[in-house]
Amino acid sequence: MDALRARSLSKVYDGRRGRVAALDHVDLDIRTGQLFGFLGRNGAGKTTFIKIASGLLIPTSGSVELFGVDVRTRVREVRERIAIVPQEGKPFYHLTPREHVEEYLLVRGASSETARDTTDRIVRAMGLTPYASTPAMFLSGGLQQRTLVAMVLASGAEFLFLDEPTLGMDPFARRQVWDVIRHAVRAGSTVLITTHYLDEAEQLTDELAVIEGGHVLYKGSAEALKSKVRREVRLHFDGGFSTQELTPFGEVYAERGGLTVMTTRSRVEELTRAALERRIAVTVGPVTLEEAFLTLVGRSIEEDEAEGGAT
Ligand SMILES: Nc1ncnc2c1ncn2[C@@H]1O[C@H](COP(=O)(O)OP(=O)(O)OP(=O)(O)O)[C@@H](O)[C@H]1O
Ligand SMILES: [Mg+2]
Repeated sequence: MDALRARSLSKVYDGRRGRVAALDHVDLDIRTGQLFGFLGRNGAGKTTFIKIASGLLIPTSGSVELFGVDVRTRVREVRERIAIVPQEGKPFYHLTPREHVEEYLLVRGASSETARDTTDRIVRAMGLTPYASTPAMFLSGGLQQRTLVAMVLASGAEFLFLDEPTLGMDPFARRQVWDVIRHAVRAGSTVLITTHYLDEAEQLTDELAVIEGGHVLYKGSAEALKSKVRREVRLHFDGGFSTQELTPFGEVYAERGGLTVMTTRSRVEELTRAALERRIAVTVGPVTLEEAFLTLVGRSIEEDEAEGGAT
């Protein structure tokens, strides 16, 4: 069974500043046990989707089911089965990380013994041990965020909504969070995670959706997204070429004091030969997920502008 099923989901915010169509007839399925990623520019509609799917916001039209349960009509039932890290949430300032996790588990119905044991495990896994007894108001931003993520990951809820969970975390902490998320999935949770770190999306998710302007532009694996842009190779030249010369081969951008071009396998030989003739160092490698994302979303924005769709 699908863990999440959204059908023709739309949301129009009707505010003082006018109407904003944040989601436009979105269909999306997430299978049970998936670690599903949500990518998209600022304002694409990711948080709006999560708020609706978790019963925090009512859609303008369309429906979402979680494990076959309609979120709108049976929201109480749904709430018992989910946990959410909201975008830019704040901890309770007077409670410690340990208290956050343990109290949350008790409120969700865990026995005191289970709550204690799970809290021990999560506090350790999230690198919070040295801060476990420090009130949140004395913790840095990244540690406060870790506390919120720890609470939710400890819950073992069937569906975890993680809206930019690693925001503001250092690279060590991010990796600890990835491990704890993977652990939750192995234990049976389904996860929907949003992130602007494309390396994180690539490392962590088994499927992802790219949304732009309230539409799903792409759904599939990170690998397939990279091959979809049809530019599977990146070549970096340490100078010696002009942008005009490289443009016929693919997208060009300035990087590390030289130029990078994203191109197809068939053009690589020609380009490396030209570089060697000019005695210029050239580095060849695969296109990153970030580059594939920029190309896909960039094209969609251009098409929109060409149609006069952007207002
Ligand atoms: N409460 C609101 N009232 C009016 N417009 C809103 C409201 N919340 C969001 N929007 C608008 O809806 C659109 C989608 O916003 P949303 O927060 O879902 O984007 P997002 O993909 O989560 O972006 P980010 O990556 O910045 O978190 C944006 O145009 C935003 O300005
Ligand atoms: Mg958001």
